[in-house]
Amino acid sequence: MKLAQEEQEMLEGKQGNSAKKSMEILSALGDIFGAERLIDVKSVQIAGVSYHNLQEAGLEFLEEMAKDGKVRVFTTLNPAGMDLQEWKKLGISPDFAEKQLKVIEAFAKMDVKTTCTCTPYLIGNRPNKGDHISWSESSAVCFANSVLGAYTNREGGPSALAAAITGKTPEFGFHLDKNRQAQVTIEVKAPIETYTDWGALGHAIGEKVGKKIVLITGIEKADEDSLKIFSASIATYAGAALFHIEGITPNETVKPEEKVEILAEDLAKSKAFLTDGSEVDIVAVGCPHCSLAELEAIAKGLEGKQVKKEFWICVAREVRDKAAEKGIVEKIEASGAKIACDTCMAVAPLKGRFKGLATNSAKAVFYGRGKNSFKTIFCDLDKCIELAVGK
Ligand code: F3S
Repeated sequence: MKLAQEEQEMLEGKQGNSAKKSMEILSALGDIFGAERLIDVKSVQIAGVSYHNLQEAGLEFLEEMAKDGKVRVFTTLNPAGMDLQEWKKLGISPDFAEKQLKVIEAFAKMDVKTTCTCTPYLIGNRPNKGDHISWSESSAVCFANSVLGAYTNREGGPSALAAAITGKTPEFGFHLDKNRQAQVTIEVKAPIETYTDWGALGHAIGEKVGKKIVLITGIEKADEDSLKIFSASIATYAGAALFHIEGITPNETVKPEEKVEILAEDLAKSKAFLTDGSEVDIVAVGCPHCSLAELEAIAKGLEGKQVKKEFWICVAREVRDKAAEKGIVEKIEASGAKIACDTCMAVAPLKGRFKGLATNSAKAVFYGRGKNSFKTIFCDLDKCIELAVGK
């Protein structure tokens, strides 16, 4: 890969140790994937923030980078292992909290905005169509590429941090138009209306075509929250970082001749797969983190009710604060449900505390099962609320 003069200086350590390490990571990546050059990025989103995943080695790496590293572009974080302010409310141990706060301190020292969310596009880290960015969270990557028309690969935590410190990323993969064309047309022949329809669609596409880039036809409308939850599902079950929906998403693509149909029975099969339990001791929504409109709907659904099960509503702190101004948080908390900022049911240390999860997110099902050994019930918000308030 050919480096510009400033990039070469960074690699030689003339701009500090963190810039040197970052440039080493980016050069190695660029060489492996055949990039010809580095390009500027407009924003970064870093995953690998939970101490639960990072452990001591990850924390040490971040503290080392923070000694002289400062980010050059707007950078936000993926969810951490706890609500950074109200961690006690969520039953997090003081030992874990201490380590998690050290992780956040290291990022803050590097001038990263320490809002921890998988929906950075709801709190101001929202790229424009055509912007090159370096993001890591799989659902956010898929949303940014597909719904916003930005250009990003699915970065790992260290490569995203390296991009933040240098302001650069190697130009390969989804940064190039030639790699963003649809490979198979998915003809949807069933109504897609609810969140669980969208979640099941992501799963069904994964089952039928695996990792191919899809052009979906047969869908007339989709609001942003539905596309948010679909991005999470198709990223999880199809490994997708980009999809196209005819008439809805902004990227241009060829229309592939290879066609695969998704019928109502395929969605029913996926929904059946996503439920494997019958008992619930935790209900969690907000995977990806809730929008203001979703919080409004949750408050309405919980009005006059008291939850009897642990009920987590995961959200970015800024969105929570906006909801608080409108009296929505007060209404939700009056029911006993817990608003969990900065974290989520997948990255918080929940294993062993609960056994049965009800959720409206297909992605939460995947991580609930895989990381926390939960049995799952996959259902829409009204049913989640019904299960939370039931005995
Ligand atoms: Fe976000 Fe956690 Fe789901 S990071 S997409 S809420 S698994």
